[in-house]
Amino acid sequence: MRKTDWFKKMSFYQIWVRSFADGNGDGIGDLYGVYDKLGYIKKLGVDGIWFSPLYPSPNADFGSDISDYRDIHPDYGTLDQFKKVLARAHELGLKVIMDLVVNHTSDEHPWFKESRKSKDNPYSDYYIWRDKPNNWDSLFEGKAWEYDEQRGQYYLHIFAKKQPDLNMDNPAVREEVKGIMRFWLEMGVDGFREDVINFISKKEGLPDGLPFLPAVNGMPYYKDGPHIHEYMAEFRQVCDEYDCFQLGEGPMTTVQSALKYLSGPTKSLDMMFSFDHMMADCMYTEYVHRPFSLVKLKKAFSRWQKALEGKAWNALYLENHDHPRIISRYGSERFWRESGTMLAASYIFQCGTPFIYQGQEIGMTNIRLRDINRYVDVSTKNNFNTYHLKDSLERRLKRIHISSRDSSRTPMQWSGERYGGFSKVRPWFVVNSNYPKVNAAAEEKDPDSILNFYRKALALRKSSKTLIYGKYREYFPGDPSVYMYERSMGSVRYLVICSFSKLPQRLRIPKAYVGKKGQLKLCNYPSGPQLMADNLKARVRQEVSLLAWEHGMLRPYEARVYRFRV
Ligand code: NOJ
Repeated sequence: MRKTDWFKKMSFYQIWVRSFADGNGDGIGDLYGVYDKLGYIKKLGVDGIWFSPLYPSPNADFGSDISDYRDIHPDYGTLDQFKKVLARAHELGLKVIMDLVVNHTSDEHPWFKESRKSKDNPYSDYYIWRDKPNNWDSLFEGKAWEYDEQRGQYYLHIFAKKQPDLNMDNPAVREEVKGIMRFWLEMGVDGFREDVINFISKKEGLPDGLPFLPAVNGMPYYKDGPHIHEYMAEFRQVCDEYDCFQLGEGPMTTVQSALKYLSGPTKSLDMMFSFDHMMADCMYTEYVHRPFSLVKLKKAFSRWQKALEGKAWNALYLENHDHPRIISRYGSERFWRESGTMLAASYIFQCGTPFIYQGQEIGMTNIRLRDINRYVDVSTKNNFNTYHLKDSLERRLKRIHISSRDSSRTPMQWSGERYGGFSKVRPWFVVNSNYPKVNAAAEEKDPDSILNFYRKALALRKSSKTLIYGKYREYFPGDPSVYMYERSMGSVRYLVICSFSKLPQRLRIPKAYVGKKGQLKLCNYPSGPQLMADNLKARVRQEVSLLAWEHGMLRPYEARVYRFRV
């Protein structure tokens, strides 16, 4: 049984292992590399690690196509090595959560290999088979149905062809899931991040979707399906046998439907990753781009903050392995340091548990490869080959530069050495060419680096009950350039001010604060008005920011956190 809501005070670091650190010199990140970097993770100030899938997988979707749920992919090490990492993480006081991908398996999973053999074998009903497909599109590859010669039927795959959907209506499948959970919980892991968990129950009869919604036409019939809360209750029961917590991934979820998983009689999850705030510059995650709108972002943030207040707990994130890098999206590569640090402040002090994705803490940015064939992600290739086909190749590639998940999957930049210090040999995937500047070793030495700002921000959050549990309130929601929010508890108030603008901005003071003196607890500019002016452009920026500082204005991408007593 879980002892307390320990996850509320925590923050997590997400590891996408293939690109984290190569410990055995084969160009692929692995658990030996992770072991060596546990001290770095601890020093960042987080309290736990979420491992993206580590299991054996043919890697059609880099680990989200699992062929064995009870082992470690040989590229990453062995179960024994995992146990060593787990034990050392626990010694350091870090919790460890695993990824649980059970909406689908790999088509190379033994269950599927059996299931496709005939209509009457013990596994025949583990997947969703039909003689005639409906009109659903897959999110990753064409139509959602693939004909299987061997069985003479179509199987459903909401994601890639090599990711057949499990039939969760089959009680035997749910028993398998529970068995997998127990396997890892018995080993000592502390919880799960559950992949597309709101998709696991499909509507009976699998009705045709609306024809005019490409890619997502079937979603109304597989998102939050009819039995979802019954199945989730079963999984919750397993978790409750242990001191375990569950975090669901909820693509396209609304706050109302998320609350059903997070509170009340159907509560099954402790937190849910929502996507609203990931759509301030696009729709349907990456398919349709639009200019970044801070007002949209703030609306999404505040909607979730207010709706969950007192009822449920938020999972806070700006990056993970499914989204391009946040500086390249909501910040500015030109104001790399300033926007990278400001973005940290924009979410870490909200109410919820912050997640930091590998490389985010050093300000990694997007890659821009000139040839689509150098991208490796199945959904990137699909987006390129499916949408906006009338555009020029150049424009289509530009969209990929903006939207590809591969940008978050390049090797971690540890140092200015060859291959960014990720590996001694050529890594499995391209290293971002900015590694001589953007790397952990250089930032370690620089007190004003993005890395050190993350450390300070996480430490500040941890030091204050108000920042963890306090009430959230947003000021000036219509302001297109500044995000300002307050966290309050008793007589303590924190005011977090974030400029999302390249230009100096007037600092507006909320009425309640006029005449009050606050303590500046954190600022992303070095104390005083100076900036590092290492070239002409930077010097011009410095002049602008000096002026702003002298006139009591917010400097480009400035973030400040004040503490008040009222
Ligand atoms: C969500 C995962 O985060 C993503 O990486 C994966 O491609 C899909 N689910 C399918 O498993």
